Amino acid sequence: MARKKNDNYVDLKTQPIPEGQHLLEVDDLKMYFHTEDGIVHAVDGVSYTLDRGETLGVVGESGSGKSVTAMTIMGLISMPPGKIEGGRVMYRGHNLLEMSEEEMQHVRGNDIAMIFQDPMTSLNPVYKIGRQVSEGLRLHRGYTKQQAHERAIELLDLVGIPEPEKRVDQYPHQFSGGMRQRVMIAMALACDPDVLIADEPTTALDVTIQAQIVELMQEMQQKNGNAIIMITHDLGVVADMADKIMVMYAGHPAEFGTADEIFYNSRHPYTWGLIRSIPEQAIDEKKPLTPIHGNPPSLVNLPKGCAFAPRCPYATERCHAERPQKWTGASGHYSMCHYADDDEFVGKYAPDTSRSRGTVPSAIPAADESKGGEA
Ligand SMILES: Nc1ncnc2c1ncn2[C@@H]1O[C@H](COP(=O)(O)OP(=O)(O)O)[C@@H](O)[C@H]1O
Ligand code: SF4
Ligand SMILES: [Mg+2]
Repeated sequence: MARKKNDNYVDLKTQPIPEGQHLLEVDDLKMYFHTEDGIVHAVDGVSYTLDRGETLGVVGESGSGKSVTAMTIMGLISMPPGKIEGGRVMYRGHNLLEMSEEEMQHVRGNDIAMIFQDPMTSLNPVYKIGRQVSEGLRLHRGYTKQQAHERAIELLDLVGIPEPEKRVDQYPHQFSGGMRQRVMIAMALACDPDVLIADEPTTALDVTIQAQIVELMQEMQQKNGNAIIMITHDLGVVADMADKIMVMYAGHPAEFGTADEIFYNSRHPYTWGLIRSIPEQAIDEKKPLTPIHGNPPSLVNLPKGCAFAPRCPYATERCHAERPQKWTGASGHYSMCHYADDDEFVGKYAPDTSRSRGTVPSAIPAADESKGGEA
């Protein structure tokens, strides 16, 4: 399984970002699964940009396509049943979707690393922790066994695992959930990735350990300047750490913007629902927690109009009949809601936080009915 390091290979992370481009640009990415039950529209038009040192939060309910989006970027989706139906994933000017499996093996772990959702299924129970942590170094950097072992101890120490000299020779079942999550982070950080994707790395952990894990990733980011993509179903988790946030609903990006735009100037009712489900926000507004009622639609039979219409408290006839077009604000902030540009609508229904705090709203012309077709 271990492949010899190819000395001719140039790490993409050492290459300059072409002028005018971002570190990572996901552009209208579409990935569908072709199954016996029909076509699962798992990722349907996802777009975002990410720069070095930035953190992107990807937020949405379970089944909204967060993990599949990440796995598609990493080239980890089996095709078939998966199929790329459109879009680009530009990393330092290279389209990852056009790379061969061999090239992607260099990218994975080395340039872009991922902490997977479930550490127990991602760690191999029959191999010692040290071997798993340092596998990438052997693969991508040509480390000898001895060098890899020493570096594994350093990495375990770095992520706060006590007695790393002893722990390095233990097996996954000898680690607690929190410690296994740390091992996953050590593995992901081993080769100093340019982009670190963390897929719900804190879900199974208690609050104190969650905070430690997040802090650890941020420390590493400050040291290395890497970008982080933090996937979570809980908007509260990324409230303090994300520079940008993409809200996903039913395989679609519902809204994307800076953290300020999402929290203080959101233009999508689904985002409002997520904001209102954050306990602190509920207290802030002096209202009880308001969960979003109902369930997301099947990704095989999506509603004809807006995918959120069956659950949206503000849905109109138009919402049920017509799929919303993308509204894009001045800064790149976008929303897939028919009424995103309607200041009256937003002013009336958005949670208080969207209007009372934060930065100047992006330049959005007010929808002024009285002017008719004049302008
Ligand atoms: N191999 C697969 N075949 C068919 N459907 C899949 C496959 N993997 C994931 N899906 C579907 O894709 C959708 C998005 O899944 P996922 O990205 O895991 O959601 P999230 O991470 O947001 O909880 C789900 O409806 C899931 O059932
Ligand atoms: S388009 Fe309509 S249903 Fe969809 S989020 Fe906007 S208001 Fe709600
Ligand atoms: Mg997931």
